Amino acid sequence: MDKKDLIGLKGVSAELITKILDGAFKMKKVLLSNQKKISLLNGKSVFLMFYEPSTRTSSSFDQAAKVLGANLIKLSVNSSSVKKGENLIDTGKTLDSMKADILVIRHFCSGVAKLLAQNVQASVINAGDGLNEHPTQALLDMMTMKEKWDSFVGKKVALIGDIKHSRVARSNIWGLTAMGAKVTVCGPATLMPANIENFPVTVAKTKEQAVSDADAIMGLRLQLERQDNGMFPSIREYHRYYGIDQELLKIAKKDVLVMHPGPVNRGVEIESQVKDGQFSYINEQVTNGVAVRMAVMAYLTCKLDEFMKEQPKGAKVIPL
Ligand code: CP
Repeated sequence: MDKKDLIGLKGVSAELITKILDGAFKMKKVLLSNQKKISLLNGKSVFLMFYEPSTRTSSSFDQAAKVLGANLIKLSVNSSSVKKGENLIDTGKTLDSMKADILVIRHFCSGVAKLLAQNVQASVINAGDGLNEHPTQALLDMMTMKEKWDSFVGKKVALIGDIKHSRVARSNIWGLTAMGAKVTVCGPATLMPANIENFPVTVAKTKEQAVSDADAIMGLRLQLERQDNGMFPSIREYHRYYGIDQELLKIAKKDVLVMHPGPVNRGVEIESQVKDGQFSYINEQVTNGVAVRMAVMAYLTCKLDEFMKEQPKGAKVIPL
């Protein structure tokens, strides 16, 4: 991550991740306050460029920009000049000419966020590019863990499911290991990246092995839109071998966090009683998504330090 853009968490330092998470914790207080509005990004323009469907990421960037006081413009890709054949770089340069400060892009091709960043002045935030990375998702996942843990060092996080197609898995692997956590992955052989040995993870043969003594379990969405038929025999069999159910939780740590980036296929990656149960932090992840995106946008516009120095409204200043 350079100061201009957030493309991925590969190579990002623990120090910078910590800085953003600390910022997000303070941003969360703003989000949960009655006022829910500050002027930190007044005068800044944020453009959302979503070339793939989204509920959580798109809405939370929208909410985050508005809470920070920025101007928010959503590019409706289906009714934009993209449909007339305009290419991505020309679209980016067009938004640059409108004095965009931040472009948030989700795209079905890996590498597109980096390509855009190399061709525009505005800061680019990768909101998910193909099979590559989804860095703000991993940051919000880490924020949810850090709310419960003093430190990531030595914690075991199990990622279960469709690892091959998951940009969420890749960003979490880079981010969590940078922070000192241990990551174990588990999924059907057909849904495991061919080069999994190049990632700093342990590969478990069974879901039981993966969650044994785990501090957090993250189910990953079965991305049927990105795969051919025949990657596994049936949904029922997939759930049996890779689904998160109540029996499985008994093998994990007693205060295990159950997480999922969403959207959830209930009864496939995770059974409903677990999704809605006492160990589930899925709704907390969504709230933290807004806070993390507020912190990332503040960081990229060089406003995070100013925000961190501000006294919360109504706080007493104790003279030295
Ligand atoms: N987790 C996530 O990226 O969800 P959306 O596809 O709804 O944005």
